[in-house]
Amino acid sequence: MMATSTVSGVITVRKTKNVTLIKKLNERIFPRDPLDLRHNNVYWILRINEMPVGFAVLHPLTNEPETVFYSRAGLLPKARGRGLHRRLIDVRNRYCKKNLYKQAITYTMDDNVASANNLISCGFKFYDPANRWADSLHKKEVIYFLNEF
Ligand SMILES: CC(C)(COP(=O)(O)OP(=O)(O)OC[C@H]1O[C@@H](n2cnc3c(N)ncnc32)[C@H](O)[C@@H]1OP(=O)(O)O)[C@@H](O)C(=O)NCCC(=O)NCCS
Repeated sequence: MMATSTVSGVITVRKTKNVTLIKKLNERIFPRDPLDLRHNNVYWILRINEMPVGFAVLHPLTNEPETVFYSRAGLLPKARGRGLHRRLIDVRNRYCKKNLYKQAITYTMDDNVASANNLISCGFKFYDPANRWADSLHKKEVIYFLNEF
C-alpha cells in the first residue's frame, strides 16, 4: 500500500495560552513571517488525534472596541485539503458572537484561493476599506474581508 502524507482522526479546536506552541506552528507554516504576538491576542490550536496541526489568531482592536482582526491561521501541509481552515474561522466567529463583537475584519493575498473561499463560506464578504491598511505590508495584491455579526 502506498504511504499517505495526510493524517486522520479525531479533530479538536481549543483555545490556548500556549504561545510557545503557537510560535512553533507559525515557524513551520509561515517560515518567513514571524507572528506579531500582541498581548491581547486570542489563540486556538487545531489537533488531529491530539497532534497539533494548525492554529488561528484573533486580535481585538484597541482603537475599535467592537471590531476584531483575524490576523492569522494556518495548517501544516498534511492537514490541508479537507476543510479544516473553516473550523478555525468558525471557532473565531463563535467567539466574536459570544463576546458581542459587531464585526471581524481580515485579508488574504489575491492568489490565496483556498483562504478566500473558506472566508466566504464562513460568512465573510469582500469590502474595500478607505485606508487599505494592509496594502503596504505586502508586495502582492491584498483582498479585504468583513464579517458582521
Ligand atoms: C489557507 C489554508 C489554511 C487553507 O486550508 P484548507 O482548509 O485545507 O483549505 P482547502 O485546501 O480545503 O481549500 C478550501 C477550498 O478552496 C478550494 N480551493 C483551493 N485552492 C483552489 C484553487 N486554486 N482554485 C479553486 N478552488 C480552490 C478547495 O477546493 C476548497 O473548497 P471545498 O472545501 O469546497 O472543496 C492552508 O492552505 C494553509 O495553511 N496555507 C498556508 C497558510 C495560509 O495561507 N494561511 C491563510 C492566510 S493567514
